[in-house]
Amino acid sequence: MYKGFSEAWLEELKAKNEIVSTISRYLTLQKKGKNYWACCPFHHEKTPSFCINEYEQYYHCFGCKEHGNVITFIMKMESCDYLSAIERLAKNANMEIPSYSVDSSVAEKKKNKETVLKILDLASKHYEQNLYLKTSTQAQEYVKKRKFTKKELDKFHIGYAKNWYDMVDYLKSMHFTIQNMKDAGIVETKNNNNYDVMGERLIFPIYNLYDECIGFSARSLVPTNYAKYKNTANTIVFDKSKNLFGINLVKKVKQQKGLDYIIIVEGQMDVVALHQAGFENCVACLGTALTPYHTRLIKNLCDNVIVSLDGDFAGQKATIRTIDTLVSGGVNVRAIKIPNNMDPDEFIKAEGKEAYQNLLDNAVNYLEFKIRHKMEQFDLSKIDEKAKFVKEALNIVNELNTNSEKQVYLEVIKNLTNVPIDVLQHDLDISSEKVVKKEEKPEIQYSEDAEIKAIKYILASLCYKKDYANYNFDLEKYLINPTYIKLYKMLKEYHQKNEEFRISTLFDSFDVDNEPNLKDIIDYNFNFVKNNAEYYDECIWKIRENYLKNLIKELSNKFNQSSDNTQRLEIAKEINLTQKKLRNKVLED
Ligand code: UTP
Ligand code: MN
Repeated sequence: MYKGFSEAWLEELKAKNEIVSTISRYLTLQKKGKNYWACCPFHHEKTPSFCINEYEQYYHCFGCKEHGNVITFIMKMESCDYLSAIERLAKNANMEIPSYSVDSSVAEKKKNKETVLKILDLASKHYEQNLYLKTSTQAQEYVKKRKFTKKELDKFHIGYAKNWYDMVDYLKSMHFTIQNMKDAGIVETKNNNNYDVMGERLIFPIYNLYDECIGFSARSLVPTNYAKYKNTANTIVFDKSKNLFGINLVKKVKQQKGLDYIIIVEGQMDVVALHQAGFENCVACLGTALTPYHTRLIKNLCDNVIVSLDGDFAGQKATIRTIDTLVSGGVNVRAIKIPNNMDPDEFIKAEGKEAYQNLLDNAVNYLEFKIRHKMEQFDLSKIDEKAKFVKEALNIVNELNTNSEKQVYLEVIKNLTNVPIDVLQHDLDISSEKVVKKEEKPEIQYSEDAEIKAIKYILASLCYKKDYANYNFDLEKYLINPTYIKLYKMLKEYHQKNEEFRISTLFDSFDVDNEPNLKDIIDYNFNFVKNNAEYYDECIWKIRENYLKNLIKELSNKFNQSSDNTQRLEIAKEINLTQKKLRNKVLED
């Protein structure tokens, strides 16, 4: 079983979604020799290094080292999780998903979710139509005032909640209950009145990665004592802390043109304005602080981000928080500061898209941004403030891991303060010593010795079913690494059942991306070996030799520690026997 699915079921699913034809729906493939080649969809390139091995049913990119089977391909391409990838492939192959039919609570939850999505879909379309009614002049004038184009109105399906009860009536007419509407977060009840939460507002539907409407963010058309924007409360399908406005459109950009980076802004107005100016790679976090969930959502699409929040004080403070969250999530972060307290929408309207492009082109690395932000809190013309700033700035530099990186930012501090570099370096050394003492972690030293190298060669040869590879030598008892033990057992089982093992199976049974040892086997380069059969035997002997040598060491220790003569005699005999095995290269005990 793997994540609730049996191997047999997964194999059938993969067989019915043959990898070459599945991938060819996304990429243009070229056949060269045994394999198919394409430009890699996971990194930028002009000459193809993305290779599909039809026989093994897996892909591998020689450029960015991405690899996987048809399931992981769908996950990465559609930016979805394992289960959704399985669902898509199953649908494509007309296969029933086994686990759902068993668990009734799962089935019921799924049905609720479907109802909620259905309501939201109908509601968003109804709002959108309402915007164009003759009577919706107030909303239409607002849209004109904010300079929306028809193209963006259509692209974002912007709509209008014309009053407080129209949506309730409409959904009733579509045979939904009030409870259904509440489950979707559309309707609330006060004094026995059911009313549209978004009443009299301009509606921005929020979509997930699969273009399903999951909620709304709605702006009031007039100055109000209530919130300027209202967002759908948490529901079974929506959670502000886990979703980003515009993410579905960013995914499309990735699929169609590829993505260099994603721009993060504060509000949906900014996203619409950016699209209008030709920047389609942007998302907004709907007024909440960016969370690790958001970070993961972003990172699944792209590793590079430019933070472009409002230029005012609050926006700059939020930028620092956003940076820290993104950096801990492993994203490469740059940031910009929009002048004159403007937000991206205002800036583009005032200065034009070229000016915004110019800001993006000059986005600084997050660390430099943090140093510059810190600097603004001090008056560098005063000696004591300058000293305080230098100290704080060095603390920021200390977040970095390598000396070469630190050097780069010492240069930045030098340029900002005119403090000589050797003085800064000296202070940095002192403060880093303090840091190290506090949280010194011993680094794990990993050196690949001859035995591990041999094990990898044997396992790779077995995985790729090389004709010289066999199961005569029982490797299992010599293995320590649990991943390798599991792999060897699996291979042996296939062999015993006389079934052919495919590399694609590994991506179901292991979390390959987090198993560097396994990656080495999948990407094994057999070319460095001249005579494979000979080398295979050498590897086997290497493992056996190590084992026997260690055994002799252990026995000698025991011999030296023992004071009982009969026991010593027996140990000596055993040592002798082992030495003989070593001399005669005996493979079995
Ligand atoms: P802003 O106040 O910066 O709005 O809030 P904005 O994007 O400039 O919008 P306009 O130009 O005034 O129309 C940024 C985001 O914070 C959320 C919204 O998602 C908004 O887009 N927000 C703001 C709320 O959720 N509630 C509010 O009351 C205000
Ligand atoms: Mn604004």
